[in-house]
Amino acid sequence: MRPRNDSDTRSNPEEIMAERKKLTLPGLFKKVADGQPLSMLTCYDYPTAYFQDEAGIDIILVGDSLGMTMLGYDGTLPVTMDDMIRHSQAVRRGAPNAWLIGDMPYMTYQPSVERAILNAGRFMAEASCDGIKLEGGAEMADRVAGIVRSGIPVMGHLGLTPQSSSALGGFRVQGKSAAQAKKIMDDAKALEEAGVYSILLEMVPDRVCKLITERAKNCFIISLGSGRDAHGQVLIYHDMFGLYPKFKPKMAKVYGDAGKVILDGLKQFVKEVTEKQFPQPENYFRMTDAEYAELCASLKR
Ligand code: KIV
Repeated sequence: MRPRNDSDTRSNPEEIMAERKKLTLPGLFKKVADGQPLSMLTCYDYPTAYFQDEAGIDIILVGDSLGMTMLGYDGTLPVTMDDMIRHSQAVRRGAPNAWLIGDMPYMTYQPSVERAILNAGRFMAEASCDGIKLEGGAEMADRVAGIVRSGIPVMGHLGLTPQSSSALGGFRVQGKSAAQAKKIMDDAKALEEAGVYSILLEMVPDRVCKLITERAKNCFIISLGSGRDAHGQVLIYHDMFGLYPKFKPKMAKVYGDAGKVILDGLKQFVKEVTEKQFPQPENYFRMTDAEYAELCASLKR
């Protein structure tokens, strides 16, 4: 990795990272108690994890959205535990300090409490995650309680839950009617009672998110497109930087068009190779005349 700026000559990643302290659950709750909003992003690979940790992101989620952003599927359902573990390991190597969450893929926790505990344990034992996230409300309370009893911190996920998008009628705002909103509020209460330390609210009206945040006693609320009143905000990394070519969700803010920078660079490379402009002498290695003469002589023998 490069030094951080021109005057910063340190090139040892461990030295740079050592400045930042490892985030713990009490540390996250202290920030919330002090009124400091939490920052959270998705991440799936080592170099991005390195930059996110260095930027001071509090919480990193290895989301099952990697099915779309990294593996090119149309949705999250085909993602496996092995996919998640491999990517979580890479992210942990790049981000030793952030609070790291592994996202439980489809059908790795729905079938039974035991399966849920065993798969949650893989994130902790094999990828050094700090906790896991799973989707669903009151119907998942026994899974949440079982995982929490096993000593694994759990983040819940309500509102638009992509693994159930078929049942929810697609990728759309959830909780717009009073009845739907009340159901999401009841689910939040059930998750809190089951022991989650946090709930991610995805695409829920801001007023509903505010009500849930005000009522949360032992957990903090993270918003994805659900307004400003949560304890923290999350975005999908690829949406922030124009890196997912198929789709840009309305609620995502683009912080830079890295996709365009990369595409322009790739086109330039193709042009330079085609026009024999690349490589230049600084891009390849040479041999001394003497060694070359000796080589040629040896070939004549
Ligand atoms: O998988 C994921 O990236 C998520 C986001 C919706 C935060 O769960």
